[in-house]
Amino acid sequence: MNSSRQVTFLFLASAIIALMVGIFFGVIGGFQYILPLFLKESMGFTKARPLHVTLVVTWIFSAAIGGIYYYLPKIFGKLYSIRLAYLHFILFVITGCAILFCFFTNQFGGKEYLEFPPYLAFPMLLTWVLFMVNFFMTIKGKFLQAPIYIWMWTTGISFFFFTLLETYLWTIPFFRDNIVRDVTVQWKSMGSLVGSWNMLVYGTAFYIMEKISGNEIHTRSNKVFFFYFLGLTNLMFNWGHHIYIVPSAPWIGNIAYIISMTELLILGNIIYTWKKSVNESRQHIHLLPIRFLSSSDVWVFLNLTLAILISIPAVNAYTHGTHITVAHAMGTTIGINTMILLASLFFIIQQENISMSASHSFIIKKGFWVVNISLLVFWISLIACGIIKASEQQKGTIFQQMMEMLSPWFHSFLIAGIGVFIGLLMICYPLFINFINNRIPKTVSES
Ligand code: HEM
Repeated sequence: MNSSRQVTFLFLASAIIALMVGIFFGVIGGFQYILPLFLKESMGFTKARPLHVTLVVTWIFSAAIGGIYYYLPKIFGKLYSIRLAYLHFILFVITGCAILFCFFTNQFGGKEYLEFPPYLAFPMLLTWVLFMVNFFMTIKGKFLQAPIYIWMWTTGISFFFFTLLETYLWTIPFFRDNIVRDVTVQWKSMGSLVGSWNMLVYGTAFYIMEKISGNEIHTRSNKVFFFYFLGLTNLMFNWGHHIYIVPSAPWIGNIAYIISMTELLILGNIIYTWKKSVNESRQHIHLLPIRFLSSSDVWVFLNLTLAILISIPAVNAYTHGTHITVAHAMGTTIGINTMILLASLFFIIQQENISMSASHSFIIKKGFWVVNISLLVFWISLIACGIIKASEQQKGTIFQQMMEMLSPWFHSFLIAGIGVFIGLLMICYPLFINFINNRIPKTVSES
């Protein structure tokens, strides 16, 4: 029985659940932008926000991990231990449920983005160790000839482990008791955490690009390795432009910023060049994965433009910490990460020869446009909120008046957010049904 396939399907089905529940809390948060008292007692913004962010980040990790468990045996013949992968899944689900339980019962205690009680970091680290062991034992001895995606996964997996440890340095008084040290370590580690999951996601993109085009040039060229080393530098040093409130030399932030912009630029260029090189018949066969990858490319360029604009020091002085930062965070995690991961899920569906019904295909194609158009309005609304807030604060406009000016944009943000939710539901529901229905192979093929 092909069990590595089954464990993949379990991770992917859980990823979809985390995504849908996560966005549901995002929509609640969106309602609270215009109705601050909405569900205030039972599900206030301080609860809805961490639930949303934790669950959508879980989607990113779970979808990336599921993909890696699926692709590894295809690359290296077999996975080191399927049992370990199951154990990983079980512990992953238990830890996830424990985190949700803590949020629902108002048990916080962590820092931003990891707001659950710090002791839950232990099982989280343990799940990662299980993943690391399985990954490194599978690729053992074959690393040096490996294509770029193996380098990226290796880097993402290793750095996530150390970075997660680093995010908890604040529990030691030496770090906690000094504000500059504390803030610096927090943002440094958060930047690297995002860099680590980007490595997992970009590695996945490179794997499917190679397989779809049937051409290894896309994963072994000098440009691709240059992109990898740039990503690695970004992962280690992008903290430079996150510690804006800490007194530090401006060139540190500027260099970090240039590196992260160049990384996005090259990624965009690689996907664009790849898409042009895929011949028509392959484009037809791999329609959905290519469509989602191409849309991630559009979002790379949109986010790059925004990032360049907000990096102009005169602009950044006003926009930092406004909704423009949220636009950048959601524009990249939805537009780039989520689109790449959806491409991966559709690629796996194809690899498994799962034929979707005509109605499912129809809903997915419509959902694709609903998500992308809604996301554009969602993103523009957040940018507009940020610009208004920055300029009105500058003029000294009173809070009440500023909120009235923001109100139309908060409404469009919410409506577009509901659009993103519906669009993703149209894509993810058929995917989920197909993963669940096909999780057990119809023919027993492997022991
Ligand atoms: C795949 C889908 C999504 C992903 C990956 C995602 C990701 C994120 C991330 C990373 C943040 C933290 C931003 C920051 O700290 O600056 C965030 C915040 C937020 N998201 Fe989403 N999001 C998604 C969909 C949605 C949707 C559909 C809504 C609906 C309105 C929404 C509403 C919110 C709200 C209200 C916040 C809090 C912003 C604040 O602190 O003011 N999100 N999201």
